[in-house]
Amino acid sequence: QMPVHVTVKERATTTELYTLYKGVYVPSAVHSPESLRYYEEFSFRPDDVLIATYPKSGTTWMQEIVPLILNGGDPASVETLPNWDRVPWLEENRACILNLEQRPSPRMFTTHFQYKMMPPSFFAAKPKVIYVLRNPKDVFTSSFHYCKMASFLVNPGPQSEFLQKFLDGKVMFGSWFDHVKSWLNAEDKEHIIYISYEEMIMDLKDSVGRIAQFLEKPLDAEVIEKIADRCEFKNMKKNNMSNYSVVPQEIMDPTKSEFMRKGIYSITVSTVSVKAGDSISIPCLYESKYTQQVKYLCQ
Ligand code: A3P
Repeated sequence: QMPVHVTVKERATTTELYTLYKGVYVPSAVHSPESLRYYEEFSFRPDDVLIATYPKSGTTWMQEIVPLILNGGDPASVETLPNWDRVPWLEENRACILNLEQRPSPRMFTTHFQYKMMPPSFFAAKPKVIYVLRNPKDVFTSSFHYCKMASFLVNPGPQSEFLQKFLDGKVMFGSWFDHVKSWLNAEDKEHIIYISYEEMIMDLKDSVGRIAQFLEKPLDAEVIEKIADRCEFKNMKKNNMSNYSVVPQEIMDPTKSEFMRKGIYSITVSTVSVKAGDSISIPCLYESKYTQQVKYLCQ
């Protein structure tokens, strides 16, 4: 039995389950006041690697890819450590007890916070950031199912109601729009790589190669191929250290929805219409050969 990082007895409302932190809701079960203080005082190193995502955008996928790249393709850590200890969320309770200060460089972390919520040392150390984004339509769907199966999250209710909450940012980690915009408008973009879930689906080998280059970890083509193969949805889904199957059913119930649910993208055109007056363009993707297919325009 793996260490369990949440204990929740029953479903409740937003105010009972979420804490409002800097204007966004965070699940209280895994974000104690102590852990948020730890986060604010955290000391980044310049060679740290930080995976930043809005929830349901490909976080777990990147928590598999990055350790494999930094370990030169060696699967030992992804086979033995659950993703939340392998690439821990800095703002979550477990971060305080993992002795992160003792970890050797390059350390790997995850965050669901917006750019403007980063702690002071982030702006001084400028660690390497991998920002993964996914089109909001699929993020919404994935989130809807996830909120149903995870008992520490507010029950989404009917889809139409959850859509309104999602558009208003009254869901965990706030508005998708604010999150994506805050990271796209980051200063000092040379320490950030932007990569979309859709690009990764289209050509995982190409994505792994670009991330390895960004992390200054040159890898042979066959190692890149091996990593991409391991991280393909159907293969990664079997890894118990990444598919959340070790979490007790009362916390995450796979009979309601699996964590590794579908692993696809549903947009077939380059435009996603979600909300009036909002327009998202993704400048860094212009370097990618898939730019045209993954540009999200929300109108
Ligand atoms: P779906 O619910 O659409 O299937 P996060 O890790 O940020 O919470 O995101 C979870 C989403 O990423 C889920 O989407 C999950 O299935 C998908 N995912 C996880 N690993 C993946 C992989 N190897 N390939 C494709 N999608 C993956």
